[in-house]
Amino acid sequence: MCGIVGYAGNQQALPILLEGLRRLEYRGYDSAGVAVLDGGEVQVVRRAGKLEALEQALGSDTALNGVSGIGHTRWATHGQPTDRNAHPHLDCSGRVAVIHNGIIENFYTLRQQLEADGHRFASQTDTECVAHLVEGALAEGLGFADAVRKALKRLEGSFALAVLHQGDPGVVVGAKRDLPLVAGRGEGENFVASDFAAFLDHTKDGVILEDDQVVVATPERLDVTDLDGDPVEAYEHHVDWDLSAAEKGGYEHFMLKEMHEQPLAIKQTLEGRTDPQGRLLLDELRMSEDELREVDKVFVVACGTAYHSGLVAKYAIEHWTRLPVEIEIASEFRYRDPVLDRNTLVIAISQSGETADTLGAVRYARRQRARVLTVCNTVGASIPRESDAVLYTRAGPEVCVAATKTFATQLAAMYLVALYLAQVRGTMFTDEVASVVRELEQVPGKVELCLERSDQVRKVAEQYKDAHDWLFLGRHVGYPMALEGALKLKEISYLHAEGYPAAELKHGPIALIEDGTPVVVVHPSSHVYAKMLTNIQEVAARGAAIIAIAEDGDREVAAHATHVLRVPPTAQLLAPLVCLIPLQLLSYHVAVARGCPIDKPRNLAKSVTVE
Ligand code: F6R
Repeated sequence: MCGIVGYAGNQQALPILLEGLRRLEYRGYDSAGVAVLDGGEVQVVRRAGKLEALEQALGSDTALNGVSGIGHTRWATHGQPTDRNAHPHLDCSGRVAVIHNGIIENFYTLRQQLEADGHRFASQTDTECVAHLVEGALAEGLGFADAVRKALKRLEGSFALAVLHQGDPGVVVGAKRDLPLVAGRGEGENFVASDFAAFLDHTKDGVILEDDQVVVATPERLDVTDLDGDPVEAYEHHVDWDLSAAEKGGYEHFMLKEMHEQPLAIKQTLEGRTDPQGRLLLDELRMSEDELREVDKVFVVACGTAYHSGLVAKYAIEHWTRLPVEIEIASEFRYRDPVLDRNTLVIAISQSGETADTLGAVRYARRQRARVLTVCNTVGASIPRESDAVLYTRAGPEVCVAATKTFATQLAAMYLVALYLAQVRGTMFTDEVASVVRELEQVPGKVELCLERSDQVRKVAEQYKDAHDWLFLGRHVGYPMALEGALKLKEISYLHAEGYPAAELKHGPIALIEDGTPVVVVHPSSHVYAKMLTNIQEVAARGAAIIAIAEDGDREVAAHATHVLRVPPTAQLLAPLVCLIPLQLLSYHVAVARGCPIDKPRNLAKSVTVE
């Protein structure tokens, strides 16, 4: 879950590397470092802490002079986030520098062997063994790229890495297995990085590397080979979004900006996927209607917020298609021997398309011959590439670690998938599908309205910002929203929060309620409205401060709630798309009021590429 960037060109490498790291910081921000080939020597500067700490240590953009280099931003796995464990790591001679994202699983054995051969280690990281392996291969007389290839053959585990060698000025060698690595093709300059965002102001064209491929970047060329050095045809990619999409654009935080982008993101995700009569047009899925008719069971697999969108989808798919749906946290799915066969449709949901557990679940499902459909926001990422079918959400790049607009678009995309299954399998009449599609098309306007009510949410947030325990309750599709509301609050405000099915509270958690405990209830109109009202009274009677999310025009709720955050009336199954806005705003305003960092919460990273 680290970010890596490498540059080989004719300009000063350092500012380009630092800019790249700034755009990759979402991948981890425990420590950062750079290595530049300066005056014929590999010069390394690295610091624990965020990128600013590294920039301070460097002093100026010209602290290191050189036209090739590598940079790293870290989310620690092996070794604490200290200066010494920050990347790049060097071999014994200080001539080979390596940056790495991933985990070398056999590093302990490798380290013992390398130490027995006389190599001296300076850090606790698994990465350092790669530098020593390359050093060893160079000492045998191999050329730089061959030495890297030889070292890679000894690695078990996952990696995306880049290597710099003093003896080969102007060359950066990159390689990957299981973790993302792309290479950018510029004019007189080339790049390697974890993500295209790292070099997007230089080029939008490049290649996405496959597992066990090696790229050799020089100012003139990008050569991609396999581990034996044989040339391979790389997967060409053109980025179709602009860098401005990854800038704050006047908002105080990316999270705020991304919340405000939700109406457009939902609209874009729906656009062009229905005809004027409201029939779903999802030919892009690459899965035939016959195949979808053969499906007799659906599994949804995902992690975190994406999992919550899957929970909502379960209600919609079962209701509209009558197919049984199981939903599973991706990290549990493949370790419990789930019952899958050719007629099982596994739907993986992942904004990044790189989450290790979700990728593992997809691979497992395909090995069991199940058909896999992925809902993803990142074109060309590993999960969609390894799936049978893909439906892309169109949220654009999401920078804030806490997911907001990608969640909204996952919900929208999953409604489309559910309706498409119903259409293909004939479980809904055409006019019924069209009527839900029309309601979906109303959602962006309603989301806009909810966002305009931000100030009301802020006032409530400020009142409860010091409450250390929060409960979030919901029933039916309100339950996954309660989970999502609690997750958002936890991750950005560092307050303890729990999401529960409202009626379950009596079976234990109600003991947590004290005078003034904030209890957020997701309470749009539904067939369980009256039951929910009873649950509200149960907690209110025990002193809870009720913050209800309820529809405009609902008069009853005000009699029982301490605060009511209003959302426009919306069809029951689609209500999560509007209820999520006050939930997101609540966590945002609480975190702002508490002075939390918002876009980069502690201990987290945007892309979780380790299990
Ligand atoms: C929470 C959040 C995470 C992600 C989870 C899955 O705000 O962002 O819980 O939802 O790590 O990530 P993706 O969707 O990239 O698979």
